[in-house]
Amino acid sequence: MAQTLPVESGFRPAAGMIYARYLKSLHQGAPFDWYLEIGCRKGNTFAGSRSKTIAVDPYFQVDQNVITQKPALHVFQQTSDDFFASGFLKAIKAKLSFSFLDGMHLFEFLLRDIINTEAHSRADGIIALHDCIPFDHAMTTRDLDNLPSRAWTGDVWKILPILRQYRPKMQIDVLDCQPSGLVLLSGLKPSDKSLSKAYDQIVADWADVTLQDYGLDRFYDQFEFVDARADRIGGFQRFSHLRLDETEATRPEYITP
Ligand SMILES: C[S@@+](CC[C@H](N)C(=O)[O-])C[C@H]1O[C@@H](n2cnc3c(N)ncnc32)[C@H](O)[C@@H]1O
Repeated sequence: MAQTLPVESGFRPAAGMIYARYLKSLHQGAPFDWYLEIGCRKGNTFAGSRSKTIAVDPYFQVDQNVITQKPALHVFQQTSDDFFASGFLKAIKAKLSFSFLDGMHLFEFLLRDIINTEAHSRADGIIALHDCIPFDHAMTTRDLDNLPSRAWTGDVWKILPILRQYRPKMQIDVLDCQPSGLVLLSGLKPSDKSLSKAYDQIVADWADVTLQDYGLDRFYDQFEFVDARADRIGGFQRFSHLRLDETEATRPEYITP
């Protein structure tokens, strides 16, 4: 059932299928090699993964079976910065096929998560970002002591104009997933340093910019919504090159009774 949240004047909210359904349906297809999720809370969005999975959150609240059919599940109860600094991905030589970034919703945190995730991704991999399309101004606050009582997207909307400026060749598709969009990044360049080199300047330039300052029309000029439901009905073609042959996926040969 679609969510019905009030819409503030001037906003064009994402009105397509709910992001968690998109992800669940995506994971029901043939598995990927490596799936990374940052910001997992109850595990709802990685429980259905059938891929080798890495889940990172400083405060998990999981009370369900999240192992399900995964050949491997690595759980890190720490911040994404600490996780990347640990060198785990390098140590196991993981090249990420698909990642979903839904951790701390301040733009500089998401920017670091993108930089670190891309560096460990396959060049033909895909990175999904949550909550980049807010549907009111209150939810974009950076004031962590006074968050709105309902949805909070923080100011990760800034990532769209930042990537357009610093990574103009990156493919950015904004799915119309309710309630606050799902952005898919492809055309990755794992060795590209333009974001990491400019990181301090980007943070200085953008920290104090509000969506009101920036302008809603200017924000919406950055993208056109892509129909997530059509993506699903079409069999998630954009992910097909990343799917493992089912026979390649690890399956136990013998299970004791
Ligand atoms: C919006 S919830 C994730 C929800 C989940 N992906 C879903 O769709 O059901 C955001 C999560 O980010 C986690 N988080 C906060 N700061 C983080 C950080 N620095 N690194 C990684 N995760 C963080 C929080 O603990 C919280 O569980």
